[in-house]
Amino acid sequence: MSSQQTSSTNDDLLVVSSVEAAYGPIKAIRGVSLRVKPQSIVTLLGPNGAGKTSLLKTISGVLEPRRGGITFCGEAIAGLDPARIVRMGLSHVPEGREVFPLLSVHENLLMGAFTREDRDAVARDLEVAYGYFPVLAERRHQDAGLLSGGQQQMLAIARALLSNPQMILMDEPSLGLSPKLTKEIFEIIRRINGEQGKSILLVEQNAHMALQAADYGYVLENGRIVLEDSCDRLRQKEDIREFYLGMKQQGVRGERRWKKKKTWR
Ligand SMILES: Nc1ncnc2c1ncn2[C@@H]1O[C@H](COP(=O)(O)OP(=O)(O)OP(=O)(O)O)[C@@H](O)[C@H]1O
Ligand SMILES: [Mg+2]
Repeated sequence: MSSQQTSSTNDDLLVVSSVEAAYGPIKAIRGVSLRVKPQSIVTLLGPNGAGKTSLLKTISGVLEPRRGGITFCGEAIAGLDPARIVRMGLSHVPEGREVFPLLSVHENLLMGAFTREDRDAVARDLEVAYGYFPVLAERRHQDAGLLSGGQQQMLAIARALLSNPQMILMDEPSLGLSPKLTKEIFEIIRRINGEQGKSILLVEQNAHMALQAADYGYVLENGRIVLEDSCDRLRQKEDIREFYLGMKQQGVRGERRWKKKKTWR
């Protein structure tokens, strides 16, 4: 893992260039450019309604961009069918998990592999996923809807792994989880990156954890990138310390919430 991004090179895995996206008249993304290097973790921070989820949806093909370009592994993917983008090696763990509640844990994982025909490799990847999340192995025959919120988050991540992605988009994986589970999830995110070399674009409300785990970070506000830097440098910036890390110098005001707390549903 590199500790910071250098100038743009054509070995970037994901390149988002001046992308705009909207829901009817509501402009959610207003000209965003970012890039992710192979085998790196990049975090995307920003307050509620900034457009983080919309940006991930635009990258994964759920939302069609109105303007701009997106390339993955050097190929243009803007506006392609989401299944095709998954097949190219880019997987999305959506906000709020979205597991199939009436399917078993095992069936949910197999849904993650629906684009694949390499049965032997899928079987191997299932075991790797169960290795990361032993609790899912124990509950493989249980309906996913009966899992706890944390276990459902694990299932959503494991399901994304089953498409054998080169890169994973993760939308608030720690949402609604206890501090202990949040630590566990971050540990696994790091392992998936470190052991398997998968790149991760991580949207997080836990800026402390995200800035520790990631190499590079972007701050999105009102549909625009307002700040980007290595996470080491972002952690030193006064605005980030005050608004995202809840650290005001002299500590007069105590912790200030930069995001309204959401529950995972
Ligand atoms: N399905 C939708 N239809 C219309 N507007 C939407 C839709 N989804 C999001 N928006 C609007 O787009 C903007 C960006 O929303 P988005 O969900 O991408 O923000 P976010 O940064 O993910 O916020 P949060 O931190 O609360 O998850 C907001 O103004 C939001 O109200
Ligand atoms: Mg969101």
